[in-house]
Amino acid sequence: MGRALQPKPTAMSLSLVNKPFFSPPFLLCSKLASQLPPPPRLRISSSSSCLPFTACAAAATMNGFSNFISHQQPGEDKGTVDLRVPVYSSSELVEKLQGKIRPEKGHPYRAMYSSFFDGITLDPALMMIPIDDHMVHRGHGVFDTTMLFNGYLYDLDSHLVRFLDSASKAKISSPFPRKTLRSLLIQLAGASKCTAGSLRYWLSAGPGDFLLSPSGCRNSQFYAVVISQNFSECTKGAKVITSTVPMKPPLFAAMKNVNYLPNVHSKMEAEKMGAFASIWVDDQGYIAEGPNANVAFISKRKELLLPLSHKILIGCTAKRLLVLASKLVEKGLLKSVSTRDVTVAEAKDSAEMMFVSSLLPILPIVEWDEQPIGDGLVGELTLAISSVLWEDIISGPETRRVLVPYEQMAAM
Ligand SMILES: Cc1ncc(COP(=O)(O)O)c(C=O)c1O
Repeated sequence: MGRALQPKPTAMSLSLVNKPFFSPPFLLCSKLASQLPPPPRLRISSSSSCLPFTACAAAATMNGFSNFISHQQPGEDKGTVDLRVPVYSSSELVEKLQGKIRPEKGHPYRAMYSSFFDGITLDPALMMIPIDDHMVHRGHGVFDTTMLFNGYLYDLDSHLVRFLDSASKAKISSPFPRKTLRSLLIQLAGASKCTAGSLRYWLSAGPGDFLLSPSGCRNSQFYAVVISQNFSECTKGAKVITSTVPMKPPLFAAMKNVNYLPNVHSKMEAEKMGAFASIWVDDQGYIAEGPNANVAFISKRKELLLPLSHKILIGCTAKRLLVLASKLVEKGLLKSVSTRDVTVAEAKDSAEMMFVSSLLPILPIVEWDEQPIGDGLVGELTLAISSVLWEDIISGPETRRVLVPYEQMAAM
């Protein structure tokens, strides 16, 4: 029966009732859950002199007992809580995870590469990263995304250049040179058998301890996943609002690090207002960017303007658009293409407006802060810009499109 643990000065006293902690031989067995002896019951009691018990999940072992979880809400002081929580063996846990995330045909996560286990898994249940990775608990990681369309990776090299630039700004040294990262991503796409979707990949300072300094992180890591997704040209107009969430300082906004909390809040703020996303305006009143897209405007004089400053993330799509849009200038559809600061007043007075980002790649914007942009309809020039980008994705030069070697990977 119960063994009282030494009470911590500010925590609850804790005792085990019913059964003791699973013995090591039990941990090694891999029976089905129904065949297993019942898990231990924990009794967690808090005395009135204790601080309120906040929900916690402790992995640390205390006097040989481990893994306790409470569902008690912060501030609740109910005295004693009885709960049962299983302690799984490795094989039981894998079985449990596979039951939750089945790798059935429709699952969107098709393949993951991890330098931590140095290989690829096709099982979504095992697409995990270590909890002590500095990226997980301190945000010390960078990421990037590449579109996979019709069996080709679009503009992979531009994304890899930015990826390594972000890593260097974040003070993470890649475990592999660019050529190897590229090869790993191509092989991963091949192994996934996925022909349309996105590749998302991360460089992290790696696992080590849970400290602030990365000095205990043994090796930086590279993780990548292929997510199946269908794409089609965005022809409907979206609404946006001006964000009230503070922008990240330029140093952190200009690298694609994993600290996207302001971006998440900015998106949530927009959704709450019935809009698609928010637009950041910088401290000088110039247009910055959206939470995961750059913005572009077409003035009433048919100038394409991209406000690409050092205060934001410079998109690979926006850079490509600068080159491709010159075709529309040659055809006489656009008067000019340029990057410069754009004030809110000028932006709101534009004829057309759009988001520009890898997985869109163009999304027309027709309303901002409940005011129409231009005539409030999807603009013809926005659609012409969208077409040139789609043309590039579907049949652009080989330098921009990498054919995925599906057959080669299947033969391995
Ligand atoms: C903050 C931010 N700005 C701009 C972009 C557009 O970049 P890209 O065109 O390379 O996707 C992104 C893309 O995710 C982003 O997260």
